[in-house]
Amino acid sequence: MQRLTVDLGARSYPILIGDGLVRDIGAQVAPLLKRPRTMIVTDTHVADHYLVPLGISLAMEDISFSSFVLEAGEGSKSWAGLARLTEWLIGEGVERGDHVIALGGGVIGDLVGFACSIVKRGCHFIQVPTTLLAQVDSSVGGKTAINVPAGKNLIGAFHQPAMVVIDPQTLDTLSRRELGAGYAEVVKYGLIDDAEFFEWCEANGAALIAGDAAARHKAIAHSVSAKARIVAADEREMQDIRALLNLGHSFGHALEAETGYSDRLLHGEAVAAGMVLAHQFSAANGLCPAADAVRVRDHLASVDLPHSLASAGINTGGAELAAHMAHDKKVRGGKLPLILTRGIGRSFVTEDYGLDAVAAFLDGARD
Ligand code: NAD
Ligand code: GLY
Repeated sequence: MQRLTVDLGARSYPILIGDGLVRDIGAQVAPLLKRPRTMIVTDTHVADHYLVPLGISLAMEDISFSSFVLEAGEGSKSWAGLARLTEWLIGEGVERGDHVIALGGGVIGDLVGFACSIVKRGCHFIQVPTTLLAQVDSSVGGKTAINVPAGKNLIGAFHQPAMVVIDPQTLDTLSRRELGAGYAEVVKYGLIDDAEFFEWCEANGAALIAGDAAARHKAIAHSVSAKARIVAADEREMQDIRALLNLGHSFGHALEAETGYSDRLLHGEAVAAGMVLAHQFSAANGLCPAADAVRVRDHLASVDLPHSLASAGINTGGAELAAHMAHDKKVRGGKLPLILTRGIGRSFVTEDYGLDAVAAFLDGARD
């Protein structure tokens, strides 16, 4: 088992990574608990595979637990889902000193984290991420939220978990499409500031997606340690450090909005196409070698991820796509900070480019 730390002073927490950890979780969480009791929250798909083994491992440590199973899918990350979950937690007698276990992907992690930030003015939670996206990104860093009709993740809080327990073996039951979407977030860490890791992705990405255990472990450990470093440096995204994690997200956000945040384009798939567009936009503006944009596109295409507007199924005009970006919650003083790049592993934040320039570029990118 590998142990990393998110270094946030008194709120620091460990990230444990190891095959089979879901079956050994009781021993890991027991020392944290103030009383031998916990509540597990999960979704219908994940419950089928992992609720029983996780429960057995708690019982083996004499930890009593109850469980709440939400409908799988983004729809549970809503006011209605939050109301049901918080009322259930209160009904279960949750105390401020308790630790609730979030067992699932980013939907469960974001919803449980937010519920735990407000129930009884705050209790603890433990992330047990079961998608690649959640294992390399959303389970670490304390961003929690629900979606509302006005947009995704608009109601939320920063609330750090007390522990993150990653069992890469849980990825064995995840669909190929969800694995690919999570892999886009792995590649992102190379593109942000680590050209060597991008090279590693080029050489090992296909094997990782196909199920190579060593490649999965390396990618997860490398990605979460990069995320831990970034979160420790800029927990609340105030200094243009954590903002780099949004590489590809502004362009991707426009594609997700255009496809109605539906199964037509998963978040990670939109990020994949968005990262290619961010590199192409940078190249078109003389910031980044054109060859680097080609390399990024070719790698994402090689693992069957969307790598262009057409492969993302988008045939909309640039002005309409740019208008979605204007509603991005990252807009500051009317300006949208873009994450652009000087080359692979050399990303930066800028407000130098207006949405009209982005719209014109996107019109050209449709050809
Ligand atoms: P998800 O939680 O919806 O999981 C995707 C699907 O996989 C679901 O159907 C789920 O039931 C299923 N699943 C999960 N684990 C499984 C397993 N091991 N085996 C079989 N099926 C499994 O989606 P996601 O991609 O994990 O997360 C997306 C969410 O994460 C979005 O709401 C997004 O806003 C959020 N997010 C948050 C952050 C953050 O920093 N907090 C970062 C990125 C994304
Ligand atoms: N996933 C972006 C962040 O955590 O900041």
